[in-house]
Amino acid sequence: MADDEVVGRGEFEVRIEPQGLVFRAASGQPVLVSAYAAGIVMPSSCRNGTCRACMRRLRAGTVTYRIEWPGLLAEEKDEGWILPCVAYPLSDLVLDGTGL
Ligand code: FES
Repeated sequence: MADDEVVGRGEFEVRIEPQGLVFRAASGQPVLVSAYAAGIVMPSSCRNGTCRACMRRLRAGTVTYRIEWPGLLAEEKDEGWILPCVAYPLSDLVLDGTGL
């Protein structure tokens, strides 16, 4: 299956709360990349889903990953933690901005 079929096409709105920051996120690029493009700097290091420096809680919305298993425990995924450096948006998102 081609990446475009997995991720889809389009653009979504991402909100960071409680700061109220908003940016557009293309479905074909990681959330972290879209944030940087909008001038919003989020913590990161490896940008390949292993170091967990970018780990952030997703308050609302859905993301997908192109790598088989990003560096998150199943329990962390269940609790809403995502890795924005390798997470692609599938809907509008609300991210927890704690620590930004
Ligand atoms: S920057 Fe390393 S996991 Fe996201």
